[in-house]
Amino acid sequence: MAPHTQQLTRPAVRLRGLTRSFEGRTVLDGLDLDLPAGQFTALLGHSGSGKSTLLRAIAGIDHGVAGSGTLTAPERVSVVFQDSRLLPWRRVLPNVLLGLDGKDAEERGRAALAEVGLAGRERAWPSELSGGEAQRAALARSLVREPELLLADEPFGALDALTRIKMHGLLRQLWERHRPSVLLVTHDVDEAIVLADRVLVLSRGRIEVDLAVEREGGSHGEYRARLLHALGVTDAGAAAPGPPLRP
Ligand SMILES: Nc1ncnc2c1ncn2[C@@H]1O[C@H](COP(=O)(O)OP(=O)(O)O)[C@@H](O)[C@H]1O
Ligand SMILES: [Mg+2]
Repeated sequence: MAPHTQQLTRPAVRLRGLTRSFEGRTVLDGLDLDLPAGQFTALLGHSGSGKSTLLRAIAGIDHGVAGSGTLTAPERVSVVFQDSRLLPWRRVLPNVLLGLDGKDAEERGRAALAEVGLAGRERAWPSELSGGEAQRAALARSLVREPELLLADEPFGALDALTRIKMHGLLRQLWERHRPSVLLVTHDVDEAIVLADRVLVLSRGRIEVDLAVEREGGSHGEYRARLLHALGVTDAGAAAPGPPLRP
């Protein structure tokens, strides 16, 4: 077997005609999507457009939701949410190791904590962490499972602006080092453009915009204007040059 070649050619996620409804109301409506292995994709959409519904479907944690269509996703999937979901009665390292076994688990957990900048905090309680640190711990908990696909549902939504910028750098760095496929849900157009290589807009139950972000020669301002337009936001400043693409 040539796992590396396979990883490069096989899409990590493949959705065809994915439909999900709540009480007769269709939220995802025959949605098609391929996520290539190793790609960093961001997903935008209005509140209530079905972003979390889509993520839960891909994560396989939407049992009981009415739906149809076909869905292929990797075996090892990690999910990060807006709140860290650390168990308050466990210290940081046991939280990161939750459900893991094997004799090298602890070592891997410590390494993951060091990677997210939390070396030395292994024995801290979740209540002793700042919001940013808690999200770092949540990232370490995902990372230690060596996911082929990382699903993140507005993971920085509750953080202050400066912490957020630091977390952007960290997430991008982790992605570059481990190369999982990433699907990042965000409501922040700039966050999407800065972090992702591809930006999707979910609207009316389908992927309405599928934008490739070119690092070389791409214009943040143009991407921004296009995405805001797709989201129905008219902003006089939207076509302004904007910040440089990942300085
Ligand atoms: N468990 C549920 N039961 C009933 N309605 C739901 C449930 N989950 C989501 N919905 C509805 O589906 C729509 C999409 O929700 P969601 O996927 O959370 O949107 P987003 O994450 O884009 O804000 C919303 O109208 C929401 O009220
Ligand atoms: Mg949501």
